[in-house]
Amino acid sequence: MKKTVVVLGTQWGDEGKGKIVDLLTENADAVVRYQGGHNAGHTLIINDEKTVLHLIPSGILRPGVKCYIGNGVVIEPSALIKEIKQLEASGVDVQSRLFISKSAPVIMPYHITLDQLREQAKGKDAIGTTGRGIGPAYEDKVARRGIRIGDLIDSKLLKDKLQTVLAYHNFVIEHYHNSEPLSFDEVYQSALQQADFIKGMCSDVTGQLHQQLENGDQLLMEGAQGTLLDIDHGTYPFVTSSNTTSGSAAAGSGLGATHIDYVLGITKAYTTRVGGGPFPTELFDEDGIELAKRGVEFGATTGRARRCGWLDLVALKRAVQVNGVTGLCVTKLDVLDTFKTIKVCTGYGQNDFPGAASEFEQIKPEYQKLTGWLSSTKGITDMSALPIEAKRLIEVIEKYTGVPVHIISTGPDRSENIIIKNPMQ
Ligand code: IMP
Repeated sequence: MKKTVVVLGTQWGDEGKGKIVDLLTENADAVVRYQGGHNAGHTLIINDEKTVLHLIPSGILRPGVKCYIGNGVVIEPSALIKEIKQLEASGVDVQSRLFISKSAPVIMPYHITLDQLREQAKGKDAIGTTGRGIGPAYEDKVARRGIRIGDLIDSKLLKDKLQTVLAYHNFVIEHYHNSEPLSFDEVYQSALQQADFIKGMCSDVTGQLHQQLENGDQLLMEGAQGTLLDIDHGTYPFVTSSNTTSGSAAAGSGLGATHIDYVLGITKAYTTRVGGGPFPTELFDEDGIELAKRGVEFGATTGRARRCGWLDLVALKRAVQVNGVTGLCVTKLDVLDTFKTIKVCTGYGQNDFPGAASEFEQIKPEYQKLTGWLSSTKGITDMSALPIEAKRLIEVIEKYTGVPVHIISTGPDRSENIIIKNPMQ
């Protein structure tokens, strides 16, 4: 049976979704981004060649697969154009396969200015955003004053809307942040040029997706960021500004909830986080340094060092629940190859799951200790070749979360995986 599969992060992002989406795209007719923006960074390594995608769905590297950017994604046109040109320069056919929703909100230059000014103003309480205007663009969407892709490609409409919205934001930039206002002419002229480049790719994505479903095609929905960065279910206010959980695969593309057949939750075999905010299992010792070093834990978008810690099963279980996860994919198992003891958090020492960042700070993580395997799992593709201690870790994850592990990633390359069950088949 053809299936619509959602792939999403169950932690604070950077779980390795890009690699898995690319892997599963072998059986997909289309790949869809449905939330977030170019704050995401999906790293793909194919035959030793590294590609980092921020906005364009990871399916673009498979010839023939259609790629959609849905209405739930906030689009910064210059970042999109740069990515298209980079891919085209390395011989990837983009413009005939990429479709951009006319209902998607545009990240305008004043959103980026506001994101950065606000973070500066917050000082030590900064969220640690990617500084790309994501939050202010979503705010404009909800405030119903945002410019959408459909407005951007209509020069008259754009002029009218931009005049009003820029006056509003310039007032704040000038009088609240004491900073330089943006010039209408500069913003308008560069928006016109960007619109000219992208207009051939703009379409009714929702309609096209339903057409694909009617044709019996297989869709892969590619999430960005992770569950604990969700605006509602994450460690608020240290979160991103979109819903990163599975419901937004429907809302952010125009599918119905009943069109989703399978949700694949990606988790690292440990945990990382970039930016500020709570992180109950964070390590500040040699083990943390070892995880960062072995896992090459630097942000794909900002290059920032990621904070590292043990796998948090309490948070993972919550992520399984709020996303309705069907099966899990455990990535970066091989990073744990050198650890004599591996810990997993199995309790928070309190009954309720925290609803606010301040409550997370009270947590005293309780750990289960597991014996490490102290041998290389790098590149293993067969479950029977996994050391017994590694199999034990997988069993502990399955038992605690109540869902099966269907894929284990044992290295960065497209080929380095154990596929227990392929969600697309
Ligand atoms: P924003 O999405 O730029 O507003 O940033 C809000 C928070 O989400 C910050 O802590 C960022 O570091 C984090 N964040 C946003 N995108 C990603 C991502 O793709 N991976 C990991 N963290 C992210």
